[in-house]
Amino acid sequence: MGILSPGPLWLVLPLLVALPRTSLALWLLDTPEPVCSQPGLNCTVENSTCLAESWFSPPNMTPSFPKDVNIRLGFEHSRNGNLFPVVHIEWKVWTDGSILFLRGAELSVLQMSTNEQLCVEFKFLNQLQHQVRPDLSRWHFAFDNFVVEPGQEYEITVQHLPKPKPNRDPNHESLPFRVPDCRDPRMKVTTPCMSSGSLWEPDILVERLKNNSLVVSFNLWNESTFYKILVNGFPNTETNSCYEEVQYINQSREEDFHHRTNVTFLLQNVNACCQYSVQTLLK
Ligand SMILES: *[C@@H]1O[C@H](CO)[C@@H](O)[C@H](O)[C@H]1NC(C)=O
Ligand SMILES: *[C@@H]1O[C@H](CO)[C@@H](O)[C@H](O)[C@H]1NC(C)=O
Ligand SMILES: *[C@@H]1O[C@H](CO)[C@@H](O)[C@H](O)[C@H]1NC(C)=O
Ligand SMILES: *[C@@H]1O[C@H](CO)[C@@H](O)[C@H](O)[C@H]1NC(C)=O
Ligand SMILES: *[C@@H]1O[C@H](CO)[C@@H](O)[C@H](O)[C@H]1NC(C)=O
Ligand SMILES: *[C@@H]1O[C@H](CO)[C@@H](O)[C@H](O)[C@H]1NC(C)=O
Repeated sequence: MGILSPGPLWLVLPLLVALPRTSLALWLLDTPEPVCSQPGLNCTVENSTCLAESWFSPPNMTPSFPKDVNIRLGFEHSRNGNLFPVVHIEWKVWTDGSILFLRGAELSVLQMSTNEQLCVEFKFLNQLQHQVRPDLSRWHFAFDNFVVEPGQEYEITVQHLPKPKPNRDPNHESLPFRVPDCRDPRMKVTTPCMSSGSLWEPDILVERLKNNSLVVSFNLWNESTFYKILVNGFPNTETNSCYEEVQYINQSREEDFHHRTNVTFLLQNVNACCQYSVQTLLK
């Protein structure tokens, strides 16, 4: 948008950036209730320290690795109605005799940026008696309760239990998983993206007053938050900055939500410095 006012031509480029909030730790959503019991199998889903017992005393006979591990982005509501991105994990079990030694599975999520890991254990309460389920389909399992974060990368592992001795063939499957960031239309409406301002439309307007003030006006967001308003000035021909000023607003009053606010900058060196960019950032 350009503004014509006394003096040279003013070109103003409004930009907006919503910064992601600081990352939360990995966590488990408590809804829907995870279920692994099915006809022919009693099973519980338990919290795990990521150190299955078989790490310490590996048995002689261990089950095969998981078959057809499938991972995709899912969305689940918490009990209080918030919507979270989750990783949907599902896998099948090979129809072979090693099923007699399958005692469960450890599912783990490793967040690459922090090296943080979270695990759950599917614990079988009885031994599987047949290579297929009573309805003759393969044994299969799914889990939807690991909450993931916008833009983060993970490694997802399904480890059949018990684990084998170190020099035997491994019986796990690991897959990389990248979560889209808040620009993705499905992610945009999730609670973590909304609270970082994914639906925020600041609608920036800039006006230069006769006394060389620059008034920046924009819409506030409806979460109590910090705003950073950054104005950069450039001479006509060069890319070097000739003006840079930042102002912060701490807006936490609910009656201001969705209202417009004005921030005034006093410009200097206005004859040489004639192009401006304005950014509003949400923290
Ligand atoms: C699962 O547990 C229930 C109740 O304890 C029991 O009646 C049932 O026989 C068990 N099923 C299997 C497959 O062990
Ligand atoms: C497992 O962990 C979740 C949170 O991560 C917690 O809410 C739940 O109470 C824990 N369950 C047990 C049996 O410790
Ligand atoms: C510039 O003008 C505006 C409106 O007329 C006034 O609010 C502001 O205080 C003035 N700024 C300076 C530095 O005089
Ligand atoms: C903020 O506004 C958006 C869009 O108007 C709305 O969907 C959201 O629920 C509001 N959030 C809060 C905390 O009021
Ligand atoms: C922002 O303002 C609120 C209320 O005025 C205050 O409680 C809060 O501590 C302020 N935040 C910071 C980081 O200064
Ligand atoms: C913000 O500035 C605009 C244009 O200068 C003015 O019309 C409006 O009344 C101002 N709003 C507030 C809240 O100061």
